[in-house]
Amino acid sequence: MRLRRLEDLGDISGKRVFVRVDYNVPLAEGSVADDSRIRASLTTLQELVRGGASLVVASHLGRPKGQVKEEARLAPVARRLGELLGGAVGYEPTDGVLDASVERRCAELRPGEIVLLENLRFDPGEEANDPTFAARLAALADVYVDDAFGAVHRAHASVAALPALFLERGRPVAAGRLLEREVAALSRLLEEPERPYVAVLGGAKVSDKLSTIGALVERVDALLIGGAMAFTFIAAEGGEVGDSLVEPDRFDDVRSARRRAEERGVLIQLPEDVVAAPERSLEAPRETVPANAIPRGRMGLDIGPRTVEEFARTLSDAKTILWNGPMGVFELEPFSAGTRGVATAIAGSTAYSVVGGGDSLSAIRRLGLEQGFGHLSTGGGASLEFIEGRKLPGIAVLEVT
Ligand code: 3PG
Repeated sequence: MRLRRLEDLGDISGKRVFVRVDYNVPLAEGSVADDSRIRASLTTLQELVRGGASLVVASHLGRPKGQVKEEARLAPVARRLGELLGGAVGYEPTDGVLDASVERRCAELRPGEIVLLENLRFDPGEEANDPTFAARLAALADVYVDDAFGAVHRAHASVAALPALFLERGRPVAAGRLLEREVAALSRLLEEPERPYVAVLGGAKVSDKLSTIGALVERVDALLIGGAMAFTFIAAEGGEVGDSLVEPDRFDDVRSARRRAEERGVLIQLPEDVVAAPERSLEAPRETVPANAIPRGRMGLDIGPRTVEEFARTLSDAKTILWNGPMGVFELEPFSAGTRGVATAIAGSTAYSVVGGGDSLSAIRRLGLEQGFGHLSTGGGASLEFIEGRKLPGIAVLEVT
């Protein structure tokens, strides 16, 4: 796969570039709580400005479902972006995404100037991949760049219909530097990964990860499963999981994933012990119990120390590692040891390691272990769909055919 790159855009001096970014960032008290995604976009923005372009930057934030929601406005993002770039970023809290004043502002942009549009998902046309909305966005710029890796799996107007329209009109499109870097890093997991290839999956619901599990069983040598999703596997085999989160309607799916893994000789490793408590709270009394014999009135909230050791042993032999999802309720200290143990084991290994998903990333940052990983992806769902080998709309449209 070869993506169109910034080099393919030709001379952008004096041009207006529409840059789709993923600024879907956590906010707290009117400020950006984690600016990693904004920082990750700076290389592209600065490179385009150095080339003499002006920028119309656009993102979604949250899931406002086609309506203006005050708490999903991009004002805090515009402020932070301006601070990081060391210059003003034009932003107006509009009643929707586009109006005559925004359109005029974009038409009058001078080289080096940057406008950030309001949350794209305030317009129902964005998620509907509506060609009319895409055409209105297309009128704002001469060139299209996608640097929103986190959103490339969404067939939304700014990701799919808009670049397609640019191409149709013979106007230049390209992937930004972040998108390019993500694709290169994640492709290492798809194209002949060094073996053993071990994936660690966690998180609450197995139903969210079934397609990932199905795809990984075809690709990896071992799959380590932690987080509450492990309880559906354990309960499906008749284990007693107390009051832990279980999805009985997924028993057949997890059984068939295990059968397939067995056929392929892929090891599926489940927790042997867990830290259990009557409720998710700091004060709850806790005990470490076998993962398949959790007493009634108790739920598993973290993998136990024996499991951490076993997982670490498998990880120490790996040459390639993928990690997505926490091993327990890591935001509560008493249930964070499992996630910490897995993060430390991966950071300490010599394998090429890739992490995706906001929760695993925030655990790594909290532990200060960023340096120990090969690639920290800015995409959650997008990184999983990519490593499943799926064709993603925002990438397909930028491929050189
Ligand atoms: C993400 O945070 O994973 C991306 O921004 C995509 O967001 P979405 O799941 O709301 O489409």
